[in-house]
Amino acid sequence: MLSRELEGKACLITGASTGIGRATAIALAEAGAFVGVHYRGSEAEAEETLRLAFVRGARGCLLKGDLRREEDARDVAALFVREAGGMDVLVNNAGSLVRRCKVEQMPLELFREIMDTNFTSAFLMARESIPHLRARKGTIINVHSIAARTGGANGAAIYASAKGALATFTIGLAKELAPDGIRVNAVAPGVIMTPFHERFSTPEALENFRRNTPLGRLGRPEDVAGVIRFLAGPDAVFLVGETIDVNGGLFMR
Ligand SMILES: NC(=O)c1ccc[n+]([C@@H]2O[C@H](COP(=O)([O-])OP(=O)(O)OC[C@H]3O[C@@H](n4cnc5c(N)ncnc54)[C@H](OP(=O)(O)O)[C@@H]3O)[C@@H](O)[C@H]2O)c1
Repeated sequence: MLSRELEGKACLITGASTGIGRATAIALAEAGAFVGVHYRGSEAEAEETLRLAFVRGARGCLLKGDLRREEDARDVAALFVREAGGMDVLVNNAGSLVRRCKVEQMPLELFREIMDTNFTSAFLMARESIPHLRARKGTIINVHSIAARTGGANGAAIYASAKGALATFTIGLAKELAPDGIRVNAVAPGVIMTPFHERFSTPEALENFRRNTPLGRLGRPEDVAGVIRFLAGPDAVFLVGETIDVNGGLFMR
């Protein structure tokens, strides 16, 4: 049984209406944190996340915004700090494959949407959060992907590239902020069963991933959330610029 090691900490999780973000909000709530449950359009699901956090004795708030937009990112960070009294942890989890499309057919508009959804959003949230994190020697955890390692497949090359940018950003930002006592790390999930795959993967593709995963099963959102909880907590204080792969062995370096 883990302790409530994040008691008194203010943790903002982007994209927490469903999937990995929801499981992360619940895990950090279990650890005693005040949780900022951010969402873009899935309001009922975000309310359910917050309810599940409250059940675990946590406090928290809902935050709505399209994080491709600079003003939304600014408002989300500012509202969170107003509600929570500061910021200790930012989890840059919001993201989406948006749509599968081969590079040869990809309109520039779709390219930009994928980059903005997965990379610009994390840059904007980091930028808006740095002054608050500096004040508390806080931490940033980016959620990129196994696709950043493999290049993705079936029309996901630009999604994979956006996650690759986020992986590199994790290292560059970690160097920039470590002197201020802000740690930056990341997780790279493998194939995790969330609404993401209901939208973007066929049952056959998922079965193929399962067969190729040494552990013999696909991932659960909680498998990733536990690692994010570790990165946010006191046992990870000397970890900087690191990505932890959470993929059941599907990809090993
Ligand atoms: N599932 C996997 O196998 C897997 C593998 C590797 C990496 N990842 C990454 O893990 C993260 C979470 O994925 P998931 O599987 O949990 O997906 P999910 O259940 O579809 O959740 C995605 C979250 O991101 C939010 N979001 C999407 N576009 C947004 C935007 N423009 N602005 C603000 N929020 C936005 C969604 O908000 P609303 O629904 O409220 O609009 C939702 O809360 C993503 O970054 C994804 O790329 C997932």
